[in-house]
Formats: sequence, C-alpha cells, structure tokens
Amino acid sequence: MKRALTGIKPTGNVHVGNWLGMIDPALALADEYEAFYFIADYHAMTTVRDPAKLRKFTLETTATWLALGLNTDRAALFRQSDVPEVCELAWILSCQIPTGVLERGHAVKSAKDGGLDVNVGTWYYPVLMSADILLYDSDIVPVGRDQKQHVEVARDLAVKMNHHFGEGTLAVPTVSIKDSVATIPGLDGKKMSKSYGNEIPLWLPPKKLRKLLMKIVTDSTPVEEPKNPDGDTVFELYKLLASAEDTAALRGRYLSGGFGHGHFKQDLFEALDALLAGPREEYQRWVDEPDSVKQVLQRGSERAREVAAATVDRVRSRTGLT
Ligand code: ADP
Ligand code: TRP
Repeated sequence: MKRALTGIKPTGNVHVGNWLGMIDPALALADEYEAFYFIADYHAMTTVRDPAKLRKFTLETTATWLALGLNTDRAALFRQSDVPEVCELAWILSCQIPTGVLERGHAVKSAKDGGLDVNVGTWYYPVLMSADILLYDSDIVPVGRDQKQHVEVARDLAVKMNHHFGEGTLAVPTVSIKDSVATIPGLDGKKMSKSYGNEIPLWLPPKKLRKLLMKIVTDSTPVEEPKNPDGDTVFELYKLLASAEDTAALRGRYLSGGFGHGHFKQDLFEALDALLAGPREEYQRWVDEPDSVKQVLQRGSERAREVAAATVDRVRSRTGLT
C-alpha cells in the first residue's frame, strides 16, 4: 500500500486554514493510502521555548486529528520526537545540500520578515522536514501551498541520494496540494496563519467563534447596495463549507443588495458551527483524557519506528556507515 505522510507543528491553536488546507485533504487520503501523520515537535522548537506549552500544544494538536476523525486503527499518528532516527537521517541529508538552498528557505524568510532571529534550527528546517518525509518512504505529502518548496527540497534530496548511493536508497515523494484550499484567507484576507495572528481557531466555543467571525475585514459597501461575493473573505470561506445550493443562495443575496456583511457573517458562523459542533465535543473528550491520547501516540510511534529503522539501516549500509 502506498504511503501518505504529513506533519503539523504544535505551536498554537490549530485553525481553519490548517483544517481545510491540510487536515481535511489528508483525512481523505487516509482511506486510500497508509497514513503516517505526525506532530512536528522538533520543528516547533525553533519558536516554542516553554516546555509546558510544547506539551499542551502537542496534546491539543493530537486531539484535533482524533476529533476530526483520523482512524488510528489504520493510520499511524505519532510524535516526531518519538522517532529520533529522523535526526540521523537529517544529518546525512545535510551533507548533500548546498547552503544557498537553505538561505532561500521559506522558514528563514518568514523569520526575517517577522523580525525574529534566524537560529540554526530555522535554517535547517527544510533538511529536518526532508528527513521526515524520506525516513518513511512517503509516496505522497498533503500540505498547503506554503509547504510546496519544502517538499521539493525533499524530492531533490532523494534524487541526489539515489544518484550517489544507488537507485532505491530513498523513495522520491510527490507533493499533494488541493487547489481549492491551497491558501485559506484569515480575518484580514491575507493567508491565515498563526504567525500573522489572523487565524480562526477551530475549537473556540460558539459565542467566541461568532464574535471573532464578526471581525473579518470586509469592504464598506452600504447595506442596500449589491456586493461582490468573489474575493470576499466571508464568501470564500462559506463556499468551502456549504453545499452548492446554499452557496448559490448566498451569492444571490450578495448580488441583490439589501443585506449587510453582518448577515453574511452570521451565515458563515452557522455553517462553520454546524460542521464543528460534533468534533468540538470529541476534541474536549480527548483533551480531558491525556492518557488515552498518549496511548494513541505510543502505538503510532511503534509503527513509525519499524519503518524508520529499516530506512536508516538501508541508508547506513548504502553510504558506508556500516
Ligand atoms: P501556520 O502557518 O499557522 O503556523 P502550520 O505551518 O503549522 O500553520 O501549517 C500546518 C499545515 O497547514 C501545513 O501543511 C500548511 O501548509 C497548512 N496551512 C497552514 N495555513 C494554511 C492556509 N492559510 N491555507 C492552506 N493551508 C494552510
Ligand atoms: N513544515 C510543516 C509546517 O510548517 C510541518 C512539517 C514538518 C511537515 N515536517 C513535515 C509537513 C513533513 C509535511 C511533511 O506546516
């Protein structure tokens, strides 16, 4: 069976962009592929320096996958740091990558843009991420568009390793980006991201969720005038959540005039809340039972370690480390 792999950093609240852009497509792939999905806690360390927070975010991010329906009887859900072989593979890969590739990396660019120090971990980020992907012979990697560049680095490294050490040393992965959800907009209309503070967290209680949605930035067309739905953040989010019929009806109300943005935001709230009400309860149930979450991670890491050990053995023997 072919394998799908993806990771998410435990750095804060999982948000609607993570859900629609990556988690939901990854859940769909889990029916067809053997899913290896993990919580990238080593990666989170480039920014999270508080151990209690790292643990909390790891628990919550794992609970999110479970609440949204990942079936861990079939899929391995694990913590990146439970398979430390990834650090060994990252070192081996780092010896094949020119420094320029890392200088141009996304993570370095966003750290610089955000006025943060570029620590070596941030710089090395794509190497560790390549090791995540290549350690598990991944065939397909579901991500949002912002991660495309990183998956390409992994591909290039696999090709290079195979060139130097023989075909079959590492599997060459393919990126999977679903066009319709590749870049979900946040409250201000820019890409939704924890780093921009414009995110809609998935697990807010309904009242807070509604209040937050009312803050989505819209144009100032008066209530009575027609409004353009295309490119409007509320509409763009709504159409990803509602049926084609409901979306067509909302489009009609934008175009007819007589409705204010507050009405549309209320529709968005209702659509989102209807989808999240059930999972929200599941989420709370998991968060309240951290031991059950730990058991899931434990089981997942056992499966992941089997595959990782075989890859590391193969790479060691091909490269002369044995
Ligand atoms: P953030 O940018 O909020 O820190 P992460 O880097 O943890 O989010 O992203 C985890 C996954 O969610 C990645 O695959 C990423 O591409 C995807 N993702 C994050 N934000 C968005 C978005 N606004 N639209 C689509 N996908 C997204
Ligand atoms: N860098 C990814 C992000 O910020 C998280 C991640 C780490 C990842 N390792 C991965 C994603 C391997 C896909 C495959 O969202």
